[in-house]
Amino acid sequence: MNKLMILCAALLVAGCSGGAQKESSKNSLSSDKVVEHKVDSVLKLMTLEEKIGQLNQLTGDGEVTGPITLASSYQEAIKKGEVGSMLNVNGAAYTRKIQKIAVEESRLGIPLIFGYDVIHGYKTIFPIPLGQAASFDLEAIEQSARVAAIEAAASGQHWTFAPMVDIARDPRWGRVMEGAGEDPYYGSLVATALVKGFQGKDLSDTSTIMACAKHFVAYGAAMAGRDYNTVDISNRTLYEVYLPPFKAALDAGVATFMSSFNELNGVPVTGNKEMIHDLLKGKWGFKGIVVSDWASIMELMPQGIVANPYEAADLAMNAGIDMDMEAHIYTAELPKLLKDGKVSEAQIDDAVRRILRMKFKLGLFDDPYRYCDTIREKELVLNQSHLDIARDVARKSMVLLKNNNVLPLSKNVKSIAVIGPLADDQNDLIGTWSARGEGKDVVSLLTAIKAKLPNANVTYAKGCEIEGDSKANFNQALAAASRADVVVVAVGESAMMSGEALSRAYLDLPGVQKELVLALNALHKPMVVVMMNGRPLTIEWMDQQVPAILEAWLPGTMGGPAIADVLFGDYNPSGKLPMTFPRSTGQIPLFYYQKNTGRPRIDSVRYTSKYIDSPNTPLYPFGYGLSYSKFDYSDFAISSPSIGMNDTLTVSVKVKNSGKYDGAEVVQLYIRDLVGSVTRPVKELKGIRKIFLKVGEEATVKFKLTAHDLAFYTRNMEFKAEPGDFKVFVGSNSAELLELGFRLAQ
Ligand code: BGC
Repeated sequence: MNKLMILCAALLVAGCSGGAQKESSKNSLSSDKVVEHKVDSVLKLMTLEEKIGQLNQLTGDGEVTGPITLASSYQEAIKKGEVGSMLNVNGAAYTRKIQKIAVEESRLGIPLIFGYDVIHGYKTIFPIPLGQAASFDLEAIEQSARVAAIEAAASGQHWTFAPMVDIARDPRWGRVMEGAGEDPYYGSLVATALVKGFQGKDLSDTSTIMACAKHFVAYGAAMAGRDYNTVDISNRTLYEVYLPPFKAALDAGVATFMSSFNELNGVPVTGNKEMIHDLLKGKWGFKGIVVSDWASIMELMPQGIVANPYEAADLAMNAGIDMDMEAHIYTAELPKLLKDGKVSEAQIDDAVRRILRMKFKLGLFDDPYRYCDTIREKELVLNQSHLDIARDVARKSMVLLKNNNVLPLSKNVKSIAVIGPLADDQNDLIGTWSARGEGKDVVSLLTAIKAKLPNANVTYAKGCEIEGDSKANFNQALAAASRADVVVVAVGESAMMSGEALSRAYLDLPGVQKELVLALNALHKPMVVVMMNGRPLTIEWMDQQVPAILEAWLPGTMGGPAIADVLFGDYNPSGKLPMTFPRSTGQIPLFYYQKNTGRPRIDSVRYTSKYIDSPNTPLYPFGYGLSYSKFDYSDFAISSPSIGMNDTLTVSVKVKNSGKYDGAEVVQLYIRDLVGSVTRPVKELKGIRKIFLKVGEEATVKFKLTAHDLAFYTRNMEFKAEPGDFKVFVGSNSAELLELGFRLAQ
C-alpha cells in the first residue's frame, strides 16, 4: 500500500477522516478529541525509528528557489522517515519540493513541519522587537506579528521561533534587541500580543503559524551580559521576573516552547527536568512541543553535566525536550536508551504525539502543501499594505529622548544636510534576525527626506563609518552641514552589533561617530541626532550637548520614511523606553524595578547606597519618552483609602494635552508594597494605557487594581497579596510620578 493510503486507512479506522465521518465525529467528539484520536491512529502505524524520526529537526540550506540543494544525506533521512521538521527551508516552491520528499517518498508520508526565525517580519521587516516594544501599543505589536505570519505562511512556513520573551536587564547582552525589555509585567503583555499575532485564532488557517516562546528560561540573565553565559539567580527572581512572560505566552495558547542554552543555577535548562517536565509540562500543563535550541543537547557535554552523547540524550529526553534541533543526538542515542530502559516507549510516544498533534492542527495531514502557495506568496510578500503597516509600527516605536525646540522640523526648510554612516544605509536598518528581509527593499532616511522635501536642497555626507577610526571624511560632512539650515545626523550600531553572540563590553557609539556628532554640533546649527541601535547605549555626553535626539532603533524596511514622518511632524512621537538607558556601563545592571536597601542614596551622607563617581539614576528611565506636545496630569484619585482582599481599587487620573500638537501618551501605573514578608521593589509596573488626545483635549484614565495585582511570591513562595500599606503611582515614566497611598485590609 502506498504511504498516503496507509495513513488514510488508519484515519478512516479512527473514524475521523473524510467528509461524512468528520460531520458525525464533530457531534460526538470535541475537536481536540478528534485530533487525539487521529494522532493515536497514526502513532500505531509507526516503527520505533519513525517515531524517533519525528523528534529530529534538521536545518536546510536557506535556498529559496531553484533545484533542491539540500544535502543528499538529509534527503535520504527524510525518505527514511528520520526527520520530523526542518528549519531554514524557505519559499513556497522550495518547501513544496522538500515536503514532496517526505510525503511521497517516506513509508508513511508524514508531512514535515517547516520552522524559521521570523522574528520581526518575514520579508517586510518591522522594527526590531525592542523597538516595537517601545511603542507600548499592543495592537501595533500584534499586527506586526500578524503580517509576519501572513508572509511566512504564504511562503511555506508553519512555525516561527518567536517571540523571544526573555526579560533583559543588561544592555551588554546582544539579544536585548529581540525582546520586550526589562519589565515582567509589560513583557507578559507583549508576549501575549505576539502569540496572538502569529497564531491568530486557528492554527489551521493558512495565514497563521505556530509561535514559540523562547528561550525557556532565564537566558536574559546571562552573567555580565555575555551571551550563553552562566545564569545564577534566586528562585524568587526566576518566578517573579523571568517566568511570567512564558506563563503569559502559555495562557495565550502558544503552540511551542524552546529551551534555552544557559544553565540555571547549575543545571543546563536543556537537561533540566524540574523546569521542563515538572513545571512547564507538569504544573503548567503545556501540551505542545518543546524544541531544544540549536544543538543544545550536544552542548550539555561542554557544559559539564554529561560525559557523552548517550548521557546527553538521556538527560534531555528525561527533562522533557521533545524535538532535537540539529544535534542529531536523539536519532543516534534514543534506540539504545530505550533498550537500556533509561527512556520508556511511553515517553517517546508522548513526544511524538505532541509533534503529530501540531501537524494535525496545522492541517498538514489534510493537505501537506497548503502553506506552499506560490501565488499567495507573490501576492502577499512585501505588498504595499504590509509596507504601510511596517511604516506605521516603525513610527510608533520611536522615542524622542531630547528636544530643545528643534523638532519637528519645518517642511519649508530650504537646505538640509543629512549626515552620518546610517543616513543612507539600507542594510543595517533591518537589524539581525531579519528573515528574508533584504537591504535593497529598505527605504533609507536620505531617500525618505528627499521624498518629503521635493523643493529643498538636500545634501548628504557619510562623515565616517560605523566602526573604524578614519576621520578622513569629516571635512566633507562639516562643509555640507555648514551650508545647510538644518542638520540631521544618523548614527548608531550596525545590524551585526546586536543579536545572538553579539554582546558588547562598551556601550558607546562605535568608531569615531561621537567625534563626528561633536564636530557637527560645534557648528551650532539646529541639529537632531537620529540614533539607530539595537540596545540602550551610553550617550550622556550627547544628552548634555546635542539639542535633539530621536531613538529610532533598527526600524526595518520602512525605517527611513517612518523617521522622516517623525522628524517633520507628520507623526508626533509617542514611544517610551522599554529598557533603562544607563549613564555608564559601570551602572549596569540598572533597571527601574529596584529594592530600597537599608541605606537608600542621600547625596550628602557617606554611608548610603551610591557610587562616589556617578549618580544612581539612569540617563533615561524605563517608560521615558517625550512628545512634541505636553501632557498634564491632574486629579489623581483612588476610589477608597482601603480595600479588602476581594475588592477592586479604581485609580483615576486626568490627562490633558496642553501642547500644540495632537498626540498619544502612554499613561503608566506603578505600585509599591511598603512592607512584605520579603522586600519588594520600590516600583512595579501594573498598568499601561496608550491614549490619543487632540490639542486641548482631556481624558480621565482609569485603572483597576485587585489583590491579584498586589500579589507576589511571599516568604514561603506562595503567590498572594499581603495586607498592609501600598503606594500607587501614575505618570508619564517610571521616574516622574504622582503618588497616593492605600491600605490592603485583611
Ligand atoms: C538561537 C535561537 C534560534 C535558533 C534557530 C539559535 O542559535 O538561539 O533563538 O531560534 O538558533 O535559528
